[in-house]
Amino acid sequence: MLTLSIVGAAGYAGGELLRLVLGHPELQLGQAISTSHAGSPVHACHPNLRGHVRATFEAPDALQACDVLVLAGGHGTHAERIDEYAQLAPRILDLSADFRLRSAEAYEQTYGRPHPKPEWLERFVYGLPELHREQLRGATHVSGVGCNATAMTLALLPLARQGLVERALFDLKVGSSEGGAVSRESSHHPERSGTVRPYATTDHRHLAEVRQALPDSGDVPLSVTAHAIEMVRGVACTAHVFLNEDFSERQLWGVFREHYGAEPFIRLVAAKSGQHRYPEPKLLAGSNHCDIGFAWDAGNRRAVVFSALDNLVKGAAGSAVQSLNLMCGWDEHLGLGFPGLHPN
Ligand SMILES: NC(=O)c1ccc[n+]([C@@H]2O[C@H](COP(=O)([O-])OP(=O)(O)OC[C@H]3O[C@@H](n4cnc5c(N)ncnc54)[C@H](OP(=O)(O)O)[C@@H]3O)[C@@H](O)[C@H]2O)c1
Repeated sequence: MLTLSIVGAAGYAGGELLRLVLGHPELQLGQAISTSHAGSPVHACHPNLRGHVRATFEAPDALQACDVLVLAGGHGTHAERIDEYAQLAPRILDLSADFRLRSAEAYEQTYGRPHPKPEWLERFVYGLPELHREQLRGATHVSGVGCNATAMTLALLPLARQGLVERALFDLKVGSSEGGAVSRESSHHPERSGTVRPYATTDHRHLAEVRQALPDSGDVPLSVTAHAIEMVRGVACTAHVFLNEDFSERQLWGVFREHYGAEPFIRLVAAKSGQHRYPEPKLLAGSNHCDIGFAWDAGNRRAVVFSALDNLVKGAAGSAVQSLNLMCGWDEHLGLGFPGLHPN
């Protein structure tokens, strides 16, 4: 068994990782670190874990050596201390955006400040197994993924890899937990504020991750809108992908089957009829699946690709565990068997 400790364990992503570690046969929890909750029982922040995790949050300066260290704090909170963390653990996964982009220039452009440890960027593998499975095998330093970036990338990747994309527009519907337990964005959501306030954006930092994932990253025009809706977990992405040649629904099936037929956590959901013929984020709560569906709009040479996932699982802690399974040479499914809930 390997010992896994979490810095930032009081947050939503940290809590979800704690839940996944409990069900993982090769992992045991080391320390749950939290600045703001040191001394409190873990279930004070994660009431679903009451009786399952007996640990108490510990302060950051109590962090000891462990086999796997997961950094689950906010953006920019851990990068400066990465050398120190590397002394304590041979394997590190950082769920924040600090090590997702490969170039310091792209980081500064996207996040508006220079990267504090640019020499570390090349050492991290972007932790999306569908993109970097081979690099993740045996890797020691892995970044997390952006939840929206994951939904967008997985929707677009098969068509982009075939060189079929002229331009793409992503329409995202997102749940409140995407903003974290304490971020300002959370106050836009009914869950946090008690009132429904509109929240929309036409600019999203996650597009930098999508561009980095695509073979022709600089060339294809991409745009995005995101709306917060009355949902706690989940991302529903509708990608309007305008193709550079005539196509058919059958060909879409061919492309998506070829790319994702063997993927353990991607399911193609594109039925002709029925209530659940396209992906639905609600069904995926707690699951590591990303469901993908599509339809063909011949008049506009437009593939409409739908993707759905749980932002805290496939969009954060689940992809991290899937990556860790590859890093350690374990079966990729370990600890990730929960199928989601229906009805929900
Ligand atoms: N939420 C998502 O859907 C998602 C998806 C992908 C990646 N991520 C990434 O994962 C990282 C953590 O995200 P998150 O959503 O878990 O953020 P979060 O819930 O806001 O937690 C982040 C940090 O805030 C502090 N915190 C949490 N709850 C608190 C509370 N009630 N009172 C005071 N402080 C509290 C904790 O730090 P201390 O306990 O040390 O004070 C925690 O480490 C971020 O870098 C994020 O970008 C998140």
